[in-house]
Amino acid sequence: MRSYRKLLTRTTAVGAVALAAFSLQPGSAFAGPTPGGSHTKVVGGTKADQGEYPFMVRLSMGCGGALYTKNIVLTAAHCVDGSGPNTSITATAGVVDLEDSKAITAKSTEVLQAPGYNGKGKDWALIKLDKAIDLPTLKIAQDDKLNNGDFQVAGWGADKEGGDQQRYLLKATVPFVDDDACKKAYGDQLTPGDEICAGKLDTGGVDTCQGDSGGPMFRKDEAGEWLQVGIVSWGEGCARPGKPGVYSEVSTFAKDIKAGADKLGG
Ligand code: ARG
Repeated sequence: MRSYRKLLTRTTAVGAVALAAFSLQPGSAFAGPTPGGSHTKVVGGTKADQGEYPFMVRLSMGCGGALYTKNIVLTAAHCVDGSGPNTSITATAGVVDLEDSKAITAKSTEVLQAPGYNGKGKDWALIKLDKAIDLPTLKIAQDDKLNNGDFQVAGWGADKEGGDQQRYLLKATVPFVDDDACKKAYGDQLTPGDEICAGKLDTGGVDTCQGDSGGPMFRKDEAGEWLQVGIVSWGEGCARPGKPGVYSEVSTFAKDIKAGADKLGG
């Protein structure tokens, strides 16, 4: 995908520059122990407990996702190649440790990439599985009422710019960043109606990163249940001050996602 390559290339390039800078700065934010304990990683996250986010899915192309229904995973458009029959993707669920023998796996049968996806906005896709996975699903936001406050993110992606993919699921909390502030960070790269930003604007330090794409950003709803408000999409580097994470705004696409899932028969 053109835009995926572009994003990856850009992040890799800036990652290399950042790494060079870090090597000159022992004791930078990413080196040395961090308050909160030895498990503190994922750009400011901690290990999730087994069963804490039961809807989390790891996809074999190196992305995250969430169970939208028991046999459909919601992920990012830039994680897939297009729409149609597809038996190449393996979904792993039910474990925080990807090497746990109790992991539940399923294969893809069909992919539906957001209609009209061209690399800017509309970064969502559905993956139909060859069997139902008997785990709780994650509800998606139907309107923008709860597109604010503190959000949870989780994934097996890199724990810092240029870092390794993780064996254990990591989680973090990121505050909402409004469109005006996010536009200041990204200008016209941002598609405000399609995207919602989150991160610690002043300090950085907490963020999703490469390999977390497609995974959910979520919060509690009024009933105290998890509600998905975003899909990990992109950012400049990871956890940089002034450069929040950019997420697909799920409420914008709720109807399209439902229609897509119906079409997939799921
Ligand atoms: N595009 C990345 C992926 O494919 C996700 C990057 C998220 N970046 C961020 N700073 N929040 O995994």
